[in-house]
Amino acid sequence: MARPHIEPYVELDYPYKKFDLAGFKGSHYKVMSLDPDSGACTLKVRFDGGYKRKPGLSYSDVEIFVLNGTMKVGKETWVEGHYAFIPAGMATGAISVDQGAEVLLMFNDGEPTFAESGSNHQLALTEAYASLNSYEDRPWGPGNLVSPSVASGCMIKVLHYDPLTEALSFLYCMTPRFKQDNISYHDSAEEAYHIWGTSWMMQFGELPTGGYFWRPPYINHGSFRCKYGTIAFGRTDSVLFNYFHFNPWTNPDENKRRAAAAFYRRRPQLYNWVASDGHNHPHGPPDFEHPNYHDDPQVRLTHGKKVGKR
Ligand SMILES: [Fe+2]
Repeated sequence: MARPHIEPYVELDYPYKKFDLAGFKGSHYKVMSLDPDSGACTLKVRFDGGYKRKPGLSYSDVEIFVLNGTMKVGKETWVEGHYAFIPAGMATGAISVDQGAEVLLMFNDGEPTFAESGSNHQLALTEAYASLNSYEDRPWGPGNLVSPSVASGCMIKVLHYDPLTEALSFLYCMTPRFKQDNISYHDSAEEAYHIWGTSWMMQFGELPTGGYFWRPPYINHGSFRCKYGTIAFGRTDSVLFNYFHFNPWTNPDENKRRAAAAFYRRRPQLYNWVASDGHNHPHGPPDFEHPNYHDDPQVRLTHGKKVGKR
């Protein structure tokens, strides 16, 4: 994913646009972030009262988070706080929204698509489907679910975990008077939307309700403050590791070098092999546990030509 850094962005300050695309007629959208190469995007979408859609599928993995309203999706009823991960090619049932609803809608691999279909594509990884009410069906876990832990008072609910990439989708909350003094950065891109509440970061100021960011890897963020409490939806595109420090002046290249140095200290042999010439990392030799990984059609679908080019 190569979405540009957008932070802070307060979507409530901007109007909706008419969503004039098959499968989305009768809805409106705002673009929160967009990969201009692949079309992968995060949208806020308002389904107007009376919106209906026949059963069908997308050619991208889709994630959806219901901010308000009620949606009927096949036999399920989704209300505020509902989260779903719909793998590329998996057909969902007919959708109807009687009274209107607002959602975050994420297309992870390509631009928004809809193909009417009552059955799954033959390559759909349907086991990855997840559908739950995040407010009711998951417990809050402590911040040490990620490593090293964030400060006490920031809690996490994991909603989806990709075992290949370690990408995470989660809710997080900050208690009133939460504070964390150090600065953080990650190897992953990080995205968040404030469902409710305002928090503060040294670099980007106050992020209120409706606030959003898409932050590429290795960008400093923190220290943090939250006066009255915040609940937010967040995602990463790979493992969420907290590199903490206290130097506000470092840039992403310096942070990346520091991360590489930490990797070298932990696994010097592997680091040396990865860093050396004369081998064809990362596209081979194949992983002996998953020798056909590069040829897996799902992997090809997900990563295009970047994987398996040998
Ligand atoms: Fe972070």
